[in-house]
Amino acid sequence: MPPLVDTFGRLHDNLRISVTDRCNIRCFYCMPEHEVRFVPRAEILSFEEIERFARVAATLGVSKLRVTGGEPLLRKDLATLLAMLGRVPGIRDLALTTNGLLLAEQAEALYAAGLRRVNVHLDTLDRERFRQITRRDELGRVLAGIHACRRLGFGPIKINAVAVKGLVEPDIVPLARFGREHGFEIRFIEFMPLDAQGLWQRDKVLLAGDIVAMLEREIGPLEEIPDRDPRAPALEYRFADGAGRIGFIASVSRPFCLNCNRIRLTADGWVRTCLLSDRVGMDVKKAFRDGARGEELVEIFREAIRLKPPSHDLAPSGNGNGFIRTMCQIGG
Ligand code: 5AD
Ligand code: SF4
Repeated sequence: MPPLVDTFGRLHDNLRISVTDRCNIRCFYCMPEHEVRFVPRAEILSFEEIERFARVAATLGVSKLRVTGGEPLLRKDLATLLAMLGRVPGIRDLALTTNGLLLAEQAEALYAAGLRRVNVHLDTLDRERFRQITRRDELGRVLAGIHACRRLGFGPIKINAVAVKGLVEPDIVPLARFGREHGFEIRFIEFMPLDAQGLWQRDKVLLAGDIVAMLEREIGPLEEIPDRDPRAPALEYRFADGAGRIGFIASVSRPFCLNCNRIRLTADGWVRTCLLSDRVGMDVKKAFRDGARGEELVEIFREAIRLKPPSHDLAPSGNGNGFIRTMCQIGG
């Protein structure tokens, strides 16, 4: 079957699957503190539906899957879903993005299900700032989860830290040292206007360039990693002394839309082609529950790709207002 190439020549081989919009912490740049409105359970895709859609995507050339949320480990028996996805013909790469709170208790089952790649969301090693950012006092559990993965032999283990200016500067160097010590890649993600409360402002984005300068001043020279996949969104560096990798998802200062290879399946069954463009998507769950099968499902994926915009809506001077869904609802 012809692969998913859009009007701009971009090949889509990477599907991110959100399995829930619920979360057990409340990062301020993602969720409101109170009165979070979650999708009703009946609207959430079943494991069978998720697997079915992953199979459709795989026949269209998708070879990489990442399971996200909300917090995916809140989904009962997530390891079962991962094992199902790992068996989909054509899938070469399976990964999980989690906040880590439930990792210590689930890491073994996840490993047994075949998972090896995990990205753990962690912005700080400071207990008080963790509480301030996530509104929960759970740093200890996250660290226990990361170490459980390390002991079991997961790899690569990456740490995702959202870079908010005026807040996380004191965390940058400690996180980088933590990564160097244990062999985790630390990835700084520029703060994007996907927060529920509209707190985003362009001047609250701590830019990749500033972080590089900070790390070189405090730790040592960084060099760009050669021969990286040109379609991967992260800019990747390593310390010149060989210990530790640092990545940047510089969505704001260096948008990578031109190379974007991603599609997304939301927890409530929409195919979305752009994280930052709210107006485009296709409701594959509704079609499936109305009886669509085979070629009709394939067409839904194709149509979503046809509608994909060339780049996201983050106007250079925009304030980012007007995004309808937050990160946890789309599944970063
Ligand atoms: N800006 C940038 N990154 C965010 N994440 C959540 N909200 C935001 C935001 N407003 C990140 C988290 C999570 C990943 C999927 O997205 O680090 O790990
Ligand atoms: Fe939960 Fe991730 Fe959103 Fe934080 S960023 S509230 S961990 S879904």
